[in-house]
Amino acid sequence: MEKTFHIVTFGCQMNVNDSDWLARALVSRGWRQAPEEEAWLFVVNTCSVRDKPEQKVYSELGRLDLHRKAKPGLTAAVGGCVAQQIGRGFFERFPFVRLVFGSDGIAGAPDAADQLAEDPSARIALLNFEAEYPERDTLLRAMPKTTVPAALTPAFDADAGEPEAGPAQAFVNIMQGCDNFCAYCIVPYTRGRQKSRQPEAVLEECRTRVEQGAREITLLGQNVNSYGLDPSRGGSRDGVGFAELLRQVAAIPGLLRLRFTTSHPKDIDPAVIRAFGELENLCPSLHLPLQAGSDEVLRRMGRKYDRARYLGIVEALRAARPDIALTTDLIVGFPGETEEDFQATLDMMERVRFESSFSFRYSDRPGVAAVRMTPKISDEVGQDRLLRLQSLQNIITKESLKTLEGQETDVLLEAMSRKQDGGEPFWRGRDGGGRVVNVRVSGGLEGGVPLAGRMLRVRLVEAKNHSLLGDKVGLPW
Ligand code: SAH
Ligand code: SF4
Ligand code: F3S
Repeated sequence: MEKTFHIVTFGCQMNVNDSDWLARALVSRGWRQAPEEEAWLFVVNTCSVRDKPEQKVYSELGRLDLHRKAKPGLTAAVGGCVAQQIGRGFFERFPFVRLVFGSDGIAGAPDAADQLAEDPSARIALLNFEAEYPERDTLLRAMPKTTVPAALTPAFDADAGEPEAGPAQAFVNIMQGCDNFCAYCIVPYTRGRQKSRQPEAVLEECRTRVEQGAREITLLGQNVNSYGLDPSRGGSRDGVGFAELLRQVAAIPGLLRLRFTTSHPKDIDPAVIRAFGELENLCPSLHLPLQAGSDEVLRRMGRKYDRARYLGIVEALRAARPDIALTTDLIVGFPGETEEDFQATLDMMERVRFESSFSFRYSDRPGVAAVRMTPKISDEVGQDRLLRLQSLQNIITKESLKTLEGQETDVLLEAMSRKQDGGEPFWRGRDGGGRVVNVRVSGGLEGGVPLAGRMLRVRLVEAKNHSLLGDKVGLPW
C-alpha cells in the first residue's frame, strides 16, 4: 500500500498551522499528500468553538462513511478540538476512525499514522495534555501552499474565494492553550492550560523560516500577550515576555513583516503598545477581540476589562502608530444581553471604527460557565442583532477603506487573483495593515517573473466593499 494522506482543516490559525506541520512531518517520512479520492488516510482537524464547526465534523465523517463501500480500506484520523472533546467516542460512532489526537497529542500523530499503516487492527488515542509545551520538529521543509480559512483573515475579500497564504508567509506557534476561561469559551478545555514555548525554540524556527524564504512571520497563540507568564509556573516574568520576544524576532535579518495573533485586551503590555511605534517591521495591524460593548455583559463574560479600559488601549495604540488597522471579534446574544447592551456594542464599533470584525451569534458549548446563564436569547433576536451589527460593520469597513484611496503602500504579493478585468492580470496581496489589495501589474511583469512572495509599491486607486484595488508604481523586490 502506498502511504497517501489528505487533510481537511476547520477552525483557527492554530489548527491551520498544526495541519501544515502534520503534512510536512508525514511527507518527510515518505507519505504523499493526495487528493481526497486517492488518499488512504483521511485526516480531519477539527474546531469546537461553536456548534456549527463541530457539526461539520460529523457531516464530513458521515460523507466519508457513504463512500466506504467503494473504498474498503478507508482510514480516518480526527484531530484538534473536537477530538479532544469527544475522544474515543469517535471509534464507536465511526468504525473507520482509527486515530484521535488532541492539541498536545499531535506531536505523536506521524508515528501513529505509520503504525496504522502497518497494523490494520490498530486504534490509537493521543489525548493527554503535557505539562510543558510539546516541542516537535518544526524545521521541516515548508509545503508549497497553505490555505488560510476565511475566518482568519478579517480583511478577506469575499469575492475572491478562499485566500491562500503565499510562499513568503510563515506562521510560528509561541504557546499552547489558554487559562482565561471566558464564560462562553470551550478553548481552555480543548487546548488545555497555557504553556509558553521556549524563546530559543521560537527564534530558531523563525530564523529557519526566514532562511527558507519567509518574508512575513505571524506569531501564534490563543493569548500571546501573556506569553512567558504561565499561571501553572506561578506566572513569573523572569524569562522573556511577549514584548521582548517581539523585539528578538523583529531583529532577524531579512524579516520584512512581523504580525501576531490573538491578543487579549486585559493582558496587553504598554511595552507591546510602544513596540508598534518602535519596531519598523512590526505591521500596523492588531486583532483585539472586544466581544461585547456593554460593561455588564463583559463582566458576565469574565473578560476582566471594561469599555473605558478598552478605549484607553485603542487611544494608546493610535498614539504609538496612527495608521494602525484594528480588527475585532464580537459576540451577539450572550445570555441576558438586552437591547441596550447590544446598542452599547454598536456604540463601541462607532467609537473605535474597527476596519473589520468577525461576529458570531452566541452558541452554547458543553461545560462552559455560560451554559448555566439565563435568560437565553432567542434565535430570532440573536439573528436580527447579528444582521444589524454586520450592516454597521460593512458601512464602517467601506468608509475606512475609502480614506485610503490615492495613498501609496507596500503590498506583499500572495497569488494571482481570480478576478480578471478586461483580460488584465491582477495580483492579490496584503498591505501592512492586513487589507487585501488587488494589484494591476501590466507592463510585462507577469511575463514569467514569479511575483508571489515579492513586495510591490502600489497606489491605491479604489476601495471595494472588503478590499482595495491598486496600481503598481515600482518594481517588485
Ligand atoms: N483566543 C482568542 C479567541 C479564540 S475563539 C481570543 O481570546 O481572542 C475565536 C472567537 O470565537 C472568540 O473571540 C469569540 O468571539 C468566538 N467565540 C468563542 N466561543 C464562542 C461561543 N460559545 N459562541 C459564539 N462565539 C464564540
Ligand atoms: Fe477563549 Fe477567552 Fe481563552 Fe480567548 S481568551 S481562547 S475567548 S477563554
Ligand atoms: Fe476552534 Fe480549537 Fe481553534 S475550538 S478556534 S480550533 S482553539
